[in-house]
Amino acid sequence: MSTNQAYDRREFLKAAAAAAGVASLPSLAFAQGAKIKIGLMLPYTGTYAQLGVAITNGFKLAVAESGGKLSGRELEYFTVDDESDPSKATDNANKLVTRDKVDVLIGTVHSGVEMGIVKIARETGVLHINPNAGADAATGALCAPNIFRTSFTNWQPAYPMGKVLADRGIKKVVTLTWNYGAGTESINGFKEGFTKAGGSVVKELLLPFPSVEFQPLLTEIASLKPQAVFVFFAGGGAAKFLKDWQAAGLKGKIGLYGTGFLTDGILESVGDAAEGIETTLHYGDGIETPKNKTFRLNYAKTYKLQPDVYAVQGYDAGLLLAAGLNAVKGDVSKKKEMIAAMEKVKIDSPRGAWTMSKAHNPIQDIYLRKVVGKENRVMGVAHKALADPARGCKMG
Ligand code: BEZ
Repeated sequence: MSTNQAYDRREFLKAAAAAAGVASLPSLAFAQGAKIKIGLMLPYTGTYAQLGVAITNGFKLAVAESGGKLSGRELEYFTVDDESDPSKATDNANKLVTRDKVDVLIGTVHSGVEMGIVKIARETGVLHINPNAGADAATGALCAPNIFRTSFTNWQPAYPMGKVLADRGIKKVVTLTWNYGAGTESINGFKEGFTKAGGSVVKELLLPFPSVEFQPLLTEIASLKPQAVFVFFAGGGAAKFLKDWQAAGLKGKIGLYGTGFLTDGILESVGDAAEGIETTLHYGDGIETPKNKTFRLNYAKTYKLQPDVYAVQGYDAGLLLAAGLNAVKGDVSKKKEMIAAMEKVKIDSPRGAWTMSKAHNPIQDIYLRKVVGKENRVMGVAHKALADPARGCKMG
């Protein structure tokens, strides 16, 4: 029997019951109007610090827009800086679940840390909403009824760029990324789309996460002279990469492409180093919908910052949790009913409406974007309503 077959719905309910210790009793906490306990496990230091802050802001904006409560219940936050450190992930997640007894565990950004959260979520049955980390397995081979994602799989925004480049006659590409889950899975997604469309990846370059020692690799790229380079970088590391790429004289000489994490949330800090760069992602700044306009206005007013894809994913985590709680009138102990409602959602997101796949990952449009000034401008839809293949997931 596979790990996944072993972890079916019955197992999940048993785990959830054991963790709660009160599975079949009416919720006393609910009856007494206790606050819903929200665990926020995100990076607040290191290269992904700004991503953690944007997700937190987005989530809290969704709560504020629903009157500061969800389904009439107040929230109590338990916040942990996970430092994007996979070696601390299971301990951090476990403390939130067993010591703080959070009702919902929201996190994280880094795919390696997410694998630790997934382990604890599967063992304890705690309701888990992932507002960024793309680890394919979280909604693939390790999918589970209590694990939801409001962001993307690493495969999802990378895959469509393969066809975009091949259609432009680009046939030979070098890839470059950090050597960890998000990097290698993004490259694999791109490669799948690119080879299917007739292209080939001639060299795959890696450096350890979160190193920003790009210079030797840029020298190698300059001597390889590929038609184009496809990268995955994000956060502070992405900003440094774009500046180094320009300083090395590669900007304008070799086409640079990537998933949109390369240019999201960093445009204020890179001068003109990102100008003209094209990426694929499930969000773009100027999406012309009333929902996006209102979201951007409210976010900017509240935080004196421009929102980015991370803020959108945090916001959508708030909307998803609200949908689950509304279905049970705020009684978070009714996990099975909550999950059923969360599976059926249509989230009216700033990125455009999306639905939940059977594996609990968004089915969403992937946009082709281009940096114009301080904006990741949407140029078109690279792939409409793209669902991750959810390889290995037996749910649904
Ligand atoms: C990840 O580790 O999954 C990730 C981090 C930053 C942006 C996108 C994905």
